[in-house]
Amino acid sequence: LKGTILSFTNNPFLVDINNSVKLIESGGVLIDGSFIKDIGEFSKLKSNYPHAKVYDYGKNLITSGFVDCHMHYPQTAIIASYGKRLLDWLNEYTFPEEKKFIDIDYARKVASLTLDLCIKNGTTTLASFCTTSINSVDAFFDEAKKRNMSVIAGKTCMDRNAPEYLIDSVNSAYDDSKRLIKKWHNSNRSYYAITPRFAPTSTPEQLDSLGSLWSEYPDCLMQTHLSEQKEEIEWVSKLFPESDSYLDVYDKFNLVRKNSIFGHCIHLKDNEIDMLKERQSSIAHCPTSNTFIGSGIFKLKEISSKKINIGLATDTGGGTSFSMLKTISEAYKISQLNNFSIHPAQLFWLATVGSSISLGLESKIGNIEKGYYADLIVINLASTLEIEQRQRRAKNFWESFFPTLIMGDDRAIMETWVNGNEINYKQY
Ligand code: GUN
Ligand code: ZN
Repeated sequence: LKGTILSFTNNPFLVDINNSVKLIESGGVLIDGSFIKDIGEFSKLKSNYPHAKVYDYGKNLITSGFVDCHMHYPQTAIIASYGKRLLDWLNEYTFPEEKKFIDIDYARKVASLTLDLCIKNGTTTLASFCTTSINSVDAFFDEAKKRNMSVIAGKTCMDRNAPEYLIDSVNSAYDDSKRLIKKWHNSNRSYYAITPRFAPTSTPEQLDSLGSLWSEYPDCLMQTHLSEQKEEIEWVSKLFPESDSYLDVYDKFNLVRKNSIFGHCIHLKDNEIDMLKERQSSIAHCPTSNTFIGSGIFKLKEISSKKINIGLATDTGGGTSFSMLKTISEAYKISQLNNFSIHPAQLFWLATVGSSISLGLESKIGNIEKGYYADLIVINLASTLEIEQRQRRAKNFWESFFPTLIMGDDRAIMETWVNGNEINYKQY
């Protein structure tokens, strides 16, 4: 692939921006099968590999595909549902929709549509919650396998405080999750995440059994929600009066360690932040959801300064867009409200490398390096009239990228490459 190549050599939250980013104008990425074989000046690659087929993207930007580290594919059909706070939104819109995923044909349709929307928006890996039905999990992994996409997913576990039609039990959640781990974890490009929805919908016994399951399969991931809305946090303190904090509930059941991904984390106490750091857990920052459901302002400045790993996530359908560009834009605005003018390189890191670290995949995806999967996108930095007229006046690379990060959407994604192949969202 010929174009302008953007990759990271270092974490832009830890070192100077100029020492964290590698930009190669007139660059090339050489793909061999599923993987990136070489990267460098195009002319050099061309003379070293004269027979390689060339896809010439001109001056357009070639980067890693986006990694969305927290979303709910079963909520695609209820995205943009009006006017509720989290707990009412779950009861009124989410749970009735999630009921439909007992039907595997329905689950396949929504999984297929969701993956197509991701590809169209340049997202090449996503971590999704499923529903309590095992069919919802099989359908999602099957559809991802058809596309050779790397995905992370898990059966959502809930044995209380949800409608009868969605409820599982301590034993069925353990048995079903275990069966699904054996079937899907590390199969093709799929990975399993043990998935208690959030503390209020699991009994202590269920959390305990999921903690035990994780210790049997320690290389799986664990995804859940943490400290999203104040009403939710108060509810957790009533349901688990013996715990010091929301995170302490998960910790009592051995659910806080490396490869755990906590969605939202808006109203954390200092000791919760310290524990996340100490345990090497990651946070999925979900800015469009946090504004849409009215959850609050994520403290990106404080949390990134503690060196906790943060990934970026759409959280659809609580979030309002499948586009990681729109999610980046919202993250910038939220950060401004938190008195932190986050640099475009840092934003792009969150949406690629940061998310891949949260999923334990940082040696395989999320960046352009030799040996990584060829999950790549081509970004047009002048995709609309309003973006083009601003970009044309840019004085340097970051000024020319920033209008797309703030105003861009799927129209900026010229091409999505997955597993070494150009992939079209209409082909499935
Ligand atoms: N907390 C528990 N379940 C959910 C969910 O589906 N979406 C969001 N945003 N928060 C949750
Ligand atoms: Zn969520």
